[in-house]
Formats: sequence, structure tokens, C-alpha cells
Amino acid sequence: MSAIHVVSTLAASRKASQLYPPQHPAFVEAMEGLTATIAESCASSSAGAFTLNVHQGRLYHESVVLPDETPGVTAIAEAFEARRIESLTLQPGLSTSDVAGLVEVLGLRPSPALDVEAELAARGVTGVTLSVIIDEDDAEREERDRLREQDRALYHRLTSTLRTMSSQVIAGDYHQLAAADSLVGTVVSRLMQDQAAVLGLATLRSTSDAEAFHAVNVMIYTLTLGAELGLPPEGLSSLGVAALTHDIGKAAFEYDDPSQAEAMRAMHPRVGADILSGLSPEDPTPMLVAYEHHMNADGTGVPERSEGYVGHPYSRMVAIADRFANLTAGSAAFDPLTPDRAVVQILREAGTLYDPLFARLFAKALGVFPVGCLVRLSDNSVAVVSGTSDDPLAPIVRVSWDAAGMLVEKADDTDLTADERTIIEVVDPASLNTEVADHL
Ligand SMILES: [Fe+2]
Ligand SMILES: [Fe+2]
Repeated sequence: MSAIHVVSTLAASRKASQLYPPQHPAFVEAMEGLTATIAESCASSSAGAFTLNVHQGRLYHESVVLPDETPGVTAIAEAFEARRIESLTLQPGLSTSDVAGLVEVLGLRPSPALDVEAELAARGVTGVTLSVIIDEDDAEREERDRLREQDRALYHRLTSTLRTMSSQVIAGDYHQLAAADSLVGTVVSRLMQDQAAVLGLATLRSTSDAEAFHAVNVMIYTLTLGAELGLPPEGLSSLGVAALTHDIGKAAFEYDDPSQAEAMRAMHPRVGADILSGLSPEDPTPMLVAYEHHMNADGTGVPERSEGYVGHPYSRMVAIADRFANLTAGSAAFDPLTPDRAVVQILREAGTLYDPLFARLFAKALGVFPVGCLVRLSDNSVAVVSGTSDDPLAPIVRVSWDAAGMLVEKADDTDLTADERTIIEVVDPASLNTEVADHL
């Protein structure tokens, strides 16, 4: 029994299944004929089973290519490819109902969602083994989601470590700081691998745990600036820990007590420095950063200082990251600014409130449309900026709403430098009633 005969019988059976209902004698006859043909070819095959492969549009029986001009060969090759079937093995002993199930599945409308293996299983078909071409996009998306979950877990470990640390450190227990130190090291390595993914994490917000989320976000923005500055990983880790603890002095105050708000604002740098002064003397930067992060470039701010006092570079970097985190998070007093506008605001304040060189570097690191910016594209779809490209006006985006305003379920990253669409405006997430973090 030649392979060509099996293929042409399979093709004829597909046709019969499209023309006749399952009870029709012509349908039954076709399935029985195919079942017999398969049984015979399995028996005559040295492998004991019958395997068809498709490769670059051509159909093979094992490693022998089947001639295109033979009836049915092209049709079967196309049917396989459309359903992403790479190879199909028919085991001996297939029943007529197995064969009918297979034929039915090969007639299902091809679509990206079609899962041939699941369809065969749903029809109780056994004895048919498939290998299916894996959708690259799907695999990529899965890997991306896996990393995102991992990154978010790291983020949450940091916020909870920080919470515990804040309560213990007041009592002089610096235990948790070592844990924070190693977590920051992990963030630094992730930043080196995928800066956009780490920046995306800083879109996370919490109303119940706002202080811890703020601290971690400030750390992420500070590290982004540090990386732009070209600091080596060890320097970044130390900078990150200092950024993480910049507001630790606030732990000594009651957040929810409005009568303490002013004292907390004015005093938390000094209190924080006091708390952190009990740390190991090898690295005084956390203490310095806590003390100096509200000192403005023009000499204003808290605590007051003598003329000519210049803060540590890390303090000046954290001050900018802190401002950015506050502007984009908003407060009871003002609505959040979109990231692009927050960058502009910081550039306006450069020289008076903030170190002008660091402010410019920060703007450069974040770009015109920072990661986490919600943007409308020229086809009216809405996307979240998920990465940077060579062109600051055409970053990498994830289209979350299509041109018709429908939510896109499996959003892919699109490099706008290779896309016809352009960014026409930045969208306020509140206007779409959404949280950016849900789309990254
Ligand atoms: Fe502060
Ligand atoms: Fe802060």
C-alpha cells in the first residue's frame, strides 16, 4: 500500500465529510475505506505506524517527499499547515470512529485558537500522534508573563521586607537590611538584563501600603538614573539600598494622624538619618541620603544647612526619583501627572530644586515617552509604552485597546520604529478608568 494511496484516500474522505452528513452511506463508505487503507499501510510499514510530515509546503511520508501533482497531496499539505500540524502518525488499530474524528478535525476552520490535539481528544480519538508547530508569539508571551510574575514577586518581597524593616529599625534592629540588600542586588541584575521590565514594575501602586510601594518605586527610578550614569553593579546596589530607605524616618510618625503631618514632612530626613546612623560605618550613604534627599539645589528645603553645603550625589539622584514617583502617583492635593509630563516638570525644576545634570540624565534615561506611558496611536488604538527603541518618538508599545476601542487580550510588544502607526497623544489612564500596571 503506497503512501500516496493513503494521502489521496484521506483527501477524498475529507471531501466526503464536507459533502455528506455522518449517517450518509457515502460518508460511512469513505471512512471505512480510509480505515482499511490506514490499517494496510501500517501493517506494511517497517515502523509499524504511518507517518506524514509537512515541511515548507511539501508533504513527506517519513523522509520521502510525495509528488505535488498527485491528487490530494497539496490539499493535505495545506490542511496540515493551516492547522500548524508538523507531523501526524497513525497507529495501527485505528477504528472507523477514530478516523472519522481525525477527518472532522482536519476540516475544522483553521484559526490561531484552534488546538488540534485538544480537538482530537474531545472526539475520543486515540492512536493519532501529532506534533504541532509552536506559535513563536505564544511562547514568547508565556516567557514574558513568567518573568513578569517573577519580577512582581520580587517587588512584593521588597515591599514586605521594607515594612518589617521600618518597624524593627526604630528599635535598632537592622536585621532586615541584609535581606533588603540581597533583594536590591537581584533588582540590579534584572535591571542589567531588562531595564524596561524593571521600570514597568514602578507603575505598581497601593493605597493600603503606599509608603512601601513609594520607596520601592523611588529605588527603581534611582537605579535607572544610576544605570544611565554608568555606575557599576556594586555602586548601583549601594545606591538602591539608600534609595529604598530614604523615607525610613517617616516610620517614627503616625502616617494617619494629620496633626503629625507637618512634623513628619519637616523632620523625617533627620529622624531617618538618626535611625540609619546605627548601621555599619562602611557605607554611610543610606544615612546621608535619608538626611539630604529634601535639600534643594538652590539651598532651600529641609533640613536647613550652612551655605556651601553640597549633598552627596546619591542624595541628589534620589531627590529626582522621589519627585518623579510623587508626581506620577498624585496625592490628595493633586492628580497624578502622566510620566512624560512629570519628566517635563522635573526639567523645569532643574537648577532650582534639582541637580541639573542629573535631571537631564534622568529625562534621557526615561525618554520622551517613558515606560508606563499610555499613548494613543494614529489608528486610534491605545497602547502602553513597554520599552525603548533607537527612536525616542517610536518606542516599543503594547497595544491594549484596538482601533475600535476593544480590549486586546493577548497584547504583543510592537516596535513602533517598524510600524506604520505613530504616537499622536499621551492618554491619562484615569480617562480610561484603568491602571497602567494591569497592561504591562
Ligand atoms: Fe522624603
Ligand atoms: Fe520619598
